[in-house]
Amino acid sequence: MGGFTRVIFFISMFAATTLISEAQYLLPIIKHKPSNQYYTVFGIGSASKSHVTLVLDLETNLTWLNCRNLKSLSSLRLVTCRSSTCKSVPGNGCDGKFCLYRQPNPLGKPVNGRVVQDKATLSTTDGGTRPLSEVSLPRFTFSCATQGLSLPVAGVLGLSPAGNSPFWRQVTAAFNVIPKFALCLPSSVFGIGHFYIGGVNSYNIPPFNGSNRMPMTMTPLKNIDSGKYLISVTSIYVDGVPLRLNPSLLEGGAKISTVVPYTVLQTDIYKALASAFTLKATKIGMYEVPAMQEYLGTTIFDTCFDEAGSTWNKEEFMNVPVIEIGLPGRSGEVKWRFHGANTVVRVMETVICLAFIDGGEKPHEPMVIGTHQLQDYMIQFDSSTSRMAFSQSLLLHNTSCLTM
Ligand SMILES: *[C@@H]1O[C@H](CO)[C@@H](O)[C@H](O)[C@H]1NC(C)=O
Ligand SMILES: *[C@@H]1O[C@H](CO)[C@@H](O)[C@H](O)[C@H]1NC(C)=O
Ligand SMILES: *[C@@H]1O[C@H](CO)[C@@H](O)[C@H](O)[C@H]1NC(C)=O
Repeated sequence: MGGFTRVIFFISMFAATTLISEAQYLLPIIKHKPSNQYYTVFGIGSASKSHVTLVLDLETNLTWLNCRNLKSLSSLRLVTCRSSTCKSVPGNGCDGKFCLYRQPNPLGKPVNGRVVQDKATLSTTDGGTRPLSEVSLPRFTFSCATQGLSLPVAGVLGLSPAGNSPFWRQVTAAFNVIPKFALCLPSSVFGIGHFYIGGVNSYNIPPFNGSNRMPMTMTPLKNIDSGKYLISVTSIYVDGVPLRLNPSLLEGGAKISTVVPYTVLQTDIYKALASAFTLKATKIGMYEVPAMQEYLGTTIFDTCFDEAGSTWNKEEFMNVPVIEIGLPGRSGEVKWRFHGANTVVRVMETVICLAFIDGGEKPHEPMVIGTHQLQDYMIQFDSSTSRMAFSQSLLLHNTSCLTM
């Protein structure tokens, strides 16, 4: 081996070792219609593995599911009250000897259940969209709730930032990798999106790869102990013009949600956004029509337009007014930019609506960013730095979160 080749050889060995320590894991994300929920699927059990489907929820601390959906309960172990696992579960309780758990349910009544452990199986990845090999988490802790959700969903996957129980935390702790995960939510039911866990080095969704990296913008997460992913909001823009808002309206920041289908805004924020958007939309030839209901759904949108005479590109939604959210970045404000595919929704052949919801005068949170706005972005939550990172809309790069 010549000197130069040897150097190359050592460099590639070094690169390979680095890759191993940055192990990363991958699960599929499936969009469900008409509920607009996003769920994932993985195996639970040792002897006979069951594939459970769980809704992704960024506020649930401990995963729960209806254990009647498991084919075999033989490898399921009950967690005792006195174990450290039980003590680390927020909202834990006891039923004589065994650990009990009660928590809010994002989709209905609170759930109760015994805390249990079983083997969970997931896949490794090199950052691409295909699973590589199977790995297992020998003692995955979750709770067996007595109720389920409507099929195909067996329960809820806990992805909250708080404590040691969230699924991503259990995976990164067991495999000793960087405590972070990323979601790429697909916009359609005809394929799968991607849920990466661990030290993902590059997200290899073509045209992106290790040498042509997906650009990501970072903003701090605030108050992680609340069990929610909250970001600060400095301003909101429509086509570059800031909305004139009372600054106190933005003080509560924005919560990121994978169960709310359309971003919900406090009334004054909603009204300012809707009127700025309407002004721009009518300039490109759309005209306002009364409130309309979501196609095959139940959501009512207040701000809708007939686009018949407009000059915009109907397929791509590309020249509808751009909505941007200003956030604190490393040095000054950074902008999270939303184009038509994430800001409007088609409800009829020629009618589109602003895909934001008026949350009333005094909602629990002034802004909740929902999945219509998150889909086709890579959204990464890094608990080692308490930062969230987001890509540009992948549609701008002629790609998406959907793999057929
Ligand atoms: C990375 O992507 C770029 C652009 O798509 C491509 O030209 C390049 O060959 C790719 N590199 C690797 C190592 O795959
Ligand atoms: C999750 O745990 C945190 C920290 O213990 C707590 O503040 C929060 O209320 C819990 N969330 C839910 C939905 O139970
Ligand atoms: C995406 O495709 C459009 C139309 O085919 C093309 O005009 C545009 O340059 C492409 N963008 C990128 C980033 O490749």
